[in-house]
Amino acid sequence: MDLAEYAASTVIRRGRAAFSAPRYSVWKAPGLSPVPPHTTLPSNFIRIVHAAAAAALGMEDLILITGGAGFIGSNFILQWMAEEKFRVLNLDKLTYAGNLHNLQSVESHPRYRFQQGDIGDRDLVRTLLERERPRAIVHFAAESHVDRSIHGPDDFIRTNVNGTFSLLEEARAYWSDLPEKDRQAFRFVHVSTDEVYGSLGPNDPAFCETTSYAPNSPYSASKAASDHLVRAYHHTYKLPVLTTNCSNNYGPYQFPEKLIPLMILNASQGKPLPVYGDGQNVRDWLYVADHCRAIRTVLAAGRTGETYCIGGIKEMPNLEIVETLCQLLDELRPDDSVVPHKNLVTFVKDRPGHDRRYAMDTRKIARELNWHPVETFETGIRKTVRWYLEHENWVQGVTSGSYRQWMAKQYATEL
Ligand code: NAD
Ligand code: TYD
Repeated sequence: MDLAEYAASTVIRRGRAAFSAPRYSVWKAPGLSPVPPHTTLPSNFIRIVHAAAAAALGMEDLILITGGAGFIGSNFILQWMAEEKFRVLNLDKLTYAGNLHNLQSVESHPRYRFQQGDIGDRDLVRTLLERERPRAIVHFAAESHVDRSIHGPDDFIRTNVNGTFSLLEEARAYWSDLPEKDRQAFRFVHVSTDEVYGSLGPNDPAFCETTSYAPNSPYSASKAASDHLVRAYHHTYKLPVLTTNCSNNYGPYQFPEKLIPLMILNASQGKPLPVYGDGQNVRDWLYVADHCRAIRTVLAAGRTGETYCIGGIKEMPNLEIVETLCQLLDELRPDDSVVPHKNLVTFVKDRPGHDRRYAMDTRKIARELNWHPVETFETGIRKTVRWYLEHENWVQGVTSGSYRQWMAKQYATEL
């Protein structure tokens, strides 16, 4: 028996327990036949053990989600648990944006598990991959708020660039050791944004998969860097990656530092509605459940190495969004302290480097994967307003402590 066979048989006999134990216990564990006497262990012994075991064990019916306690990740997990059969392991650092309350309805589901941790912690990611053996990674984890990236870009580089790099490296090592048929089936889906493409003029055609990258904020630059790394791992190593670039999402569980939940909460509390600049910046809005469906579609049927642009095909200037929200609140909360709610609109200093217009051309994902948004803006925004009004406990939970400090820092001089 050569060393690799010995290692494999050891790990197989011990089963998965060997993986969850500290690394050297694979061959030190009591009850196992010892390493044959006078064997000189090569420096890459553990790697051989894992490669041999991986070839024997293959992948599990499980997907690893990163950032699953955030806005889109938690919506994705809730949808996944309702509509798919594979198990989910959610790896999330629980930054200010991560909230396990979003996942309360599935927390004790037998197919769901949570692991707190940083995607940049390579030992942790390696252990999780080797032990859990996912057939896919869906990578949501990121710092995601443009205004925060302007105040302090460090975390954006650390998580979005270095964290994605660490995850790619560990994914590559794990994937390289899989049996051939599993290597073919494995998928790494990288969830990205339309903001990597920069800003459009009023008459420019919408962004599409071949638009040149031109990120303008530290957030979009860090996401662009991660997109490039993901692309390179396919081109160089053939890692089976797919990238999605999506427009602005809205819906339940969005942290109220972003435009739509912030305006709903401020308006319902009679607080000013801070509109940046002239309010004519244009965004394309997509209901979050439609984004989650798009990601599941790409995971199931997308072509590896490809990118897919996703959007709601619903461009609107910010002021129109705010006024729409105010009209809905006039209808749903006629007894609020300030009605009509639009009297609360307050124009404030513009965001530095504020991109003027985003728009998405979604013809590729429609043509190749038959994905189309289900929700219209009118139905989605009504559901969203109702959700925030009906989930006071959730709102109270996220708007205490550090949220207050952020609001004071971001809007203090303006409001
Ligand atoms: P979010 O800020 O609500 O959630 C991010 C999650 O990632 C949080 O749960 C946080 O705890 C976790 N996280 C942060 N750093 C981490 C780290 N180092 N290790 C592990 N977990 C970490 O973000 P979101 O709005 O849900 O966005 C999810 C992804 O979708 C991001 O990659 C974002 O760039 C992308 N995206 C967002 C939108 C949007 O409109 N929100 C649109 C397109 C693409
Ligand atoms: P945001 O929700 O932060 O998303 P992004 O910057 O990723 O597009 O902002 C959406 C738009 O709303 C953007 O043009 C900035 C604007 N905005 C305001 O006018 N006021 C606000 O208080 C916020 C948070 C955003």
